[in-house]
Amino acid sequence: MKINTLQDQLHRPLRDLRISVTDRCNFRCQYCMPAEVFGPDYAFLPSDKILSFEEIERLVKIFVSLGVKKVRITGGEPLLRRDLPKLIERIHRIGGVEDIALTTNGTLLKKYANDLAKAGLSRVAVSLDSLDEDRFFEMNGHRGKVKTVLEGIEKAAEAGLQVKINMVVKKGKNEQDIVSMAEFFKDKQHILRFVEYMDVGNTNGWRLDDVVSKKEIVEQVHQFSPLNHVDPNYKGEVATRYQYQDDQGEIGVISSVTDSFCSTCTRARISAEGKLYTCLFATDGTDLRELLRTGEDDASIIECISDVWENRNDRYSDERNEQTMEKRKKSKIEMSHIGG
Ligand code: GTP
Ligand code: 5AD
Ligand code: SF4
Ligand code: SF4
Repeated sequence: MKINTLQDQLHRPLRDLRISVTDRCNFRCQYCMPAEVFGPDYAFLPSDKILSFEEIERLVKIFVSLGVKKVRITGGEPLLRRDLPKLIERIHRIGGVEDIALTTNGTLLKKYANDLAKAGLSRVAVSLDSLDEDRFFEMNGHRGKVKTVLEGIEKAAEAGLQVKINMVVKKGKNEQDIVSMAEFFKDKQHILRFVEYMDVGNTNGWRLDDVVSKKEIVEQVHQFSPLNHVDPNYKGEVATRYQYQDDQGEIGVISSVTDSFCSTCTRARISAEGKLYTCLFATDGTDLRELLRTGEDDASIIECISDVWENRNDRYSDERNEQTMEKRKKSKIEMSHIGG
């Protein structure tokens, strides 16, 4: 069995595994699952098409043998998946996973934070786009309240989870909240990461004009409280880090549009239905569920994943600006299937 030697066509190892555990969400963020597309008749995956916890555990073991050290659980909204702490516990028990994280909209965090921490979760990334109830309501498709998310964040911190906040910034929608969010979370000593609005999926009507750039974001926060640029914690960290000069607190900016980071991308993604994707912007994936359910042994699944990774040459964000509109029109995987 090969261990830790896998490299793709651009010499990037396989280190992180992002697993989506459901394609459903209780929000309808305009930039991810717009309500007009994901309406009452939208065909979400039936439960028998979704990987079971046993299947996910088996895949994680296999991925660990190929070099994965970090696992992140995503959705849709992962806390909608019944008994999620039990999955965390199973992954925690697998030797070799150094870090288990969860990306959530925070609405159910108050309820589950303690169980998740007990099960071995290390960190949560909570999405929150504004502290203003009206603007937040507008951005999440009229579903949830800031107050509930903030309670979830507090509960997670009390439970001993490391907390980061993700704020997607969209021009004309919430750019006026950049400084108030920075101020609020500086005070709370949580790391706030600003995320440039991306052209994920096919449904969010993305336009370059709607992006607020890393440069603009950092300038605004620096005006509020001076920042220093600091080195990444590790090679391939998605966010560019900045530290406040007065108290060492920090913010991050995820600049997939204006300053992409594909050259260090070590992330594989598995959708809720068990397809392996080698890029957030992929147009097609490799069906691992089929292999799991037709009795293939570990060796042949390892061979399949190795082949996929060794042939990988994705660098979508790097290429974005070179791309013609024709190429952009190709049907991409939806964010709610792949979990960001
Ligand atoms: P850390 O492990 O804490 O650094 O988390 P992370 O930033 O890798 O994960 P998180 O789920 O919090 O993602 C934050 C934002 O970064 C989301 O909008 C993701 O879609 C985006 N993101 C994460 N990985 C990638 C990637 O490989 N490519 C691109 N373009 N965006 C990514
Ligand atoms: N652009 C940038 N970030 C996005 N997310 C979802 N859709 C987009 C988009 N179009 C973020 C969510 C969450 C993470 C999983 O991805 O806000 O923090
Ligand atoms: Fe749900 Fe997160 Fe997508 Fe919003 S961004 S619709 S919370 S999965
Ligand atoms: Fe990785 Fe694709 Fe994101 Fe580039 S665009 S960083 S290759 S997931």
